[in-house]
Amino acid sequence: MSNSLPPIVRTVAALRERVAEWRRDGARIGLIPTMGALHEGHLTLVRRALAAGERAIISIFVNPTQFGPNEDFSAYPRREADDVAKFAAIGGHLVWAPSVEEMYPAGFASHVGVSHLTDGLDGPFRPGHFQGVATVVTKLLLQVLPDHAYFGEKDYQQLQVVTRMVRDLDLPTGIVGVPTVREADGLALSSRNIYLTAAERQAASLLPQVLRETAAAARAGDVPFAHLLETARGRLAQAGFGPIDYVAICDAETLAPVESLARPARLFVAARLGKTRLIDNISIETA
Ligand code: PAJ
Repeated sequence: MSNSLPPIVRTVAALRERVAEWRRDGARIGLIPTMGALHEGHLTLVRRALAAGERAIISIFVNPTQFGPNEDFSAYPRREADDVAKFAAIGGHLVWAPSVEEMYPAGFASHVGVSHLTDGLDGPFRPGHFQGVATVVTKLLLQVLPDHAYFGEKDYQQLQVVTRMVRDLDLPTGIVGVPTVREADGLALSSRNIYLTAAERQAASLLPQVLRETAAAARAGDVPFAHLLETARGRLAQAGFGPIDYVAICDAETLAPVESLARPARLFVAARLGKTRLIDNISIETA
């Protein structure tokens, strides 16, 4: 591990040159797509690539096309120097940090859409979001052509959308899902947690607690799911969460809502706490 900073490349041409050099050396490459403001969740993805013996490329790009008009694109934290230092400290190899103009040159007109998986959960609440994600992830995968790309289960719907898209489009990269990294009280790490006030941060710990308890009750199977979901909603509302976009139990692969546990399923929640929209999910089987 070296303490020198990894190179930061800002053009597709420079990126391709580096990657070609590594390929000539026989190196294997892992890509970790991020929007920066790196925390332990992101760094865990990087460590997975390094542990697999890959050169780790992290992309840092706050992708405008996945934010809605009333979302936090301009307020989203940008702290590149800090991110590069964190990435360097764990032995990361290259930072891919294109400008918006490099990613979307004038006249840009192409999009990738993934059907069905985006019909539910965050889909209806964030119109255009998954098309923005699918398009930028396709571009990132084609720019880098990594052996593996690493995604967090924290954004489980995104992980499923990317997995489906890579399979459907024959993109030559293996998608690796990584379990959610949490704070000591269970709150999932997120770049958006910095928006929480001290009081909200305290209240936020109810979210993972409700997730765990509801998932355990669903696994026990004594109470209809609809009942459990209503109770979970009530507890969150009582603690100051709202609006609550959804509390749902869905098939772990198709993301269609389910009422029994014939196949692996997950519990999903999205709710606002003050100005911050929090999402989280948990496996029913292992809760
Ligand atoms: P971002 O929110 O920066 O997240 C980058 C990656 O880190 C995603 O795969 C996300 O699931 C993962 N991640 C975030 N918090 C995590 C946690 N607590 N534990 C484990 N993994 C976690 O997701 C995006 O960026 C963007 O949509 C992107 C894929 C980069 C496309 O723009």
